Amino acid sequence: MKRRRLASCLVMGCALSGAVFPHAQTTTTVQFDREIVHVLDDHCVMCHAEKGLAFPLVTYEQTYASRWKIRQDALNRHMAPWAAVSGYGGFSNDNGLTQREIDFLVSWAESFGPRNNGEVNAGIATGPSPGKPVQAHFDINRWRLGDPDLRLALPPNTVTPRQADEVKRVTLDPRLTGDRWLRGLEYRPADGRVVHAVSVAIQETGEWLGSWTPWHPYFELPTGLAYRLPAGSHLLVEIHSYGSSEPVTERASLGLYFATQPSRRKVANMALNASWAAGSPRKLLGSRRLEEDASILALQPEIHPGIQSIEVSARKPDGTTQILLFARKIPLEWPTPYVLREPISLPKGTQLSVIEHYADDASVPVAGFPVTFSAYSSGAAGESVEELHIATPLRGRADAAQVSSLGSRDEVRLQRRQALDPGHPGAREIGDLARKAVTEIFSDRP
Ligand code: HEC
Repeated sequence: MKRRRLASCLVMGCALSGAVFPHAQTTTTVQFDREIVHVLDDHCVMCHAEKGLAFPLVTYEQTYASRWKIRQDALNRHMAPWAAVSGYGGFSNDNGLTQREIDFLVSWAESFGPRNNGEVNAGIATGPSPGKPVQAHFDINRWRLGDPDLRLALPPNTVTPRQADEVKRVTLDPRLTGDRWLRGLEYRPADGRVVHAVSVAIQETGEWLGSWTPWHPYFELPTGLAYRLPAGSHLLVEIHSYGSSEPVTERASLGLYFATQPSRRKVANMALNASWAAGSPRKLLGSRRLEEDASILALQPEIHPGIQSIEVSARKPDGTTQILLFARKIPLEWPTPYVLREPISLPKGTQLSVIEHYADDASVPVAGFPVTFSAYSSGAAGESVEELHIATPLRGRADAAQVSSLGSRDEVRLQRRQALDPGHPGAREIGDLARKAVTEIFSDRP
């Protein structure tokens, strides 16, 4: 039925294109089966799938029907969601479209969406088709990093229909009897409809270990490096979900990948706290001097409603400045770290800075929020390096997996705030709020 309707309107389009609008003809060599399907595979179909986070862009017909919106979203860089401006540092989890890919989408849409070579058939079957039609493809049931060394099942988590940004936390006990070296982790949802972002930290210290987004479902340290996971540590998994049209019960897994050798360098988090610039109420500034040679692996900024841009830079002792990240139009619904394609080595004495601009009407708390750097120092693995932990050590039981619902981004933010500065005037009130907000959804726990 749907297909018939599409077909008839396309036929009309064809007739018009010849007779009335001579420009609406195929003037491009870009074809769905060749260029477009690759753009979808690389940037879109991890979300735009049957039973995915958004309407499917899998088949030719689906993509054809949305081509004007696709054109628009590609041109204004609304889709795929990715805020780092290209040209300021390279990221291995960059999901932005290249200029060439934007050009493909735009000229394909404007040229009446050709499907394959020499056959401008606008998706209507014109005879027996040779082989299967070309489609975008995404496999949710696959570990990108290979079979994990340890697979932890998350307790089932039911996401309320249409709920925006439902943040839940789960504590997992990997039952480590000795210290282990963690070289990577991967989160795997069982249902692709609800989860937007996941981050994993060591519960006891708050150290961030890595994150998941639909387009980059794992975090992996460069060869030879690993985080130390002390015996008895628990993992704190924070999950951001958006409700679907019906309740969805998500049964996810977390895969851990261990190194057999200790890390050749110490890997740790470093936080850079920003606070309001004097006399400039919408600008957050923070800076920090490196006390050791260090290499930066990833940046994990905390973002809040109203954020307009963030810039992280490094001023080296020789006076040169390197921009590590410049991001704008930051979509709050897709929290992501920025994982550097190559570690950036910075000498002792480098000044790391962050500048964040907020909109005039943004309701941002009084003090700023950190950018966390995952970095390794150039010292040997055993040497001590200054370490800073930033996230909230979780309340809750460490002996069993549990899901606690924090309801909204605000409460999580307030909790973080409290953890960073327990002396903050709002801290007590925040504590009460957080306690109220934590509802454990497990009744069958021991
Ligand atoms: C990380 C997930 C994700 C990725 C990757 C992604 N999208 Fe989306 N997209 C969404 C969500 C969620 C929506 C809004 C949901 C809805 O409207 O059903 C959306 C909406 C859209 C819309 C509709 C906008 C409107 O005005 O209604 C278009 C068109 C679109 N995406 C195209 C794309 C294209 C093309 C790509 C790849 C280049 C892409 N998206 C990549 C998640 C994603």
